[in-house]
Amino acid sequence: MKPKVFVTRRIPDKGLKMLEDKVDLKVWEGEVGPNKERIIEEVAEIDGLISLLSDPIDREVLKAGENLKVVSNYAVGYDNIDVDAATKQGIYVTNTPGALTDTTADLAFALLMATARRIVEADKYTRDGNWKAWGPKLLLGQDMTNASLGIIGLGKIGQAMAKRSSGFDMDLYYYNRSSKPKVEEELNINRLSLDELLTTCDFISLHCPLTAETEGLIGERELKLMKENAILINTARGKVVDQDVLYQALKEGWIAGAGLDVFEREPIADDNPLLELDNVVVAPHIGSASFSAREKMAEMAAQNLLAGLEGRKPDNLVNEEALEN
Ligand code: NAP
Ligand code: GLV
Ligand code: GLV
Repeated sequence: MKPKVFVTRRIPDKGLKMLEDKVDLKVWEGEVGPNKERIIEEVAEIDGLISLLSDPIDREVLKAGENLKVVSNYAVGYDNIDVDAATKQGIYVTNTPGALTDTTADLAFALLMATARRIVEADKYTRDGNWKAWGPKLLLGQDMTNASLGIIGLGKIGQAMAKRSSGFDMDLYYYNRSSKPKVEEELNINRLSLDELLTTCDFISLHCPLTAETEGLIGERELKLMKENAILINTARGKVVDQDVLYQALKEGWIAGAGLDVFEREPIADDNPLLELDNVVVAPHIGSASFSAREKMAEMAAQNLLAGLEGRKPDNLVNEEALEN
């Protein structure tokens, strides 16, 4: 009997084709994913799950998975999964690191440039027929060149973001839980405390995972430490920032702008007041949304899943301890 697998959304064909002959495959076809009750029903029947970052794979869901051997997340972040609960049950949890590093850094840099030079406002201004004359003070923004860029979380994506600044003669700083002396030398980037980084940098970009330590890392105190001309970019996870306070900071001019791909609740509500602000550029969590990154992620998710089902150690195992349970 082939192992049973549920995939919570139609991922690129390349990944699904790798599974077709080897497993009994069921793919959820909706644009919106199955709700938690439905995931629980499916999980009770399967050996392997491919989940998206928006699927809540919590203790209750995992508990339903009596035969579940592997949860293969189609993302690098896995804050949607209760990894401790999975480990206790001996369930492998895997992710897709690397496949989306450059793609996500590209989006973070695009959000930075769009926010600094007010591209979205300018587009709307032009289309709305407001352009009457070339204006000496029309839609003035901030220079990228010679600005200081602070990276919070100098991992794969954080480093790729830092590299993208090389054409702009920027001063580079980072805050990270561990020090990275080799990277410091390679990228000419200096380590600061969080408070030093917040008070020093013109542009601050978040690239840490969402964990118990990073939840609410950027709150009122931190936003008040930032410069008035500062721009905050978040392509990490919404909950790393206190979103209500961020709204206040942007509205009252504690900082100049924000470029956001991620939100406390996704999708963001239509009536969220952040969406009324001109100094915010938003995207619907599309950091990894290039054809090639999503294809590579599908391939990795399939490989990780198959390894777990065949009793091999998956390449991108997040919970090594599960091997012992
Ligand atoms: P990564 O290589 O693991 O890098 C994460 C970095 O954050 C590491 O340098 C890590 O430090 C640091 N970090 C962890 N906890 C920290 C803390 N408490 N304080 C300071 N720094 C801390 O991961 P990645 O591939 O770059 O991805 C980063 C995150 O981006 C993912 O977890 C995901 O949430 C998000 N993401 C979003 C999108 C999107 O579509 N918007 C796409 C991809 C990823 P150490 O080196 O000490 O471990
Ligand atoms: C996207 O947000 C990811 O974590 O891959
Ligand atoms: C602007 O278009 C300039 O020529 O300065």
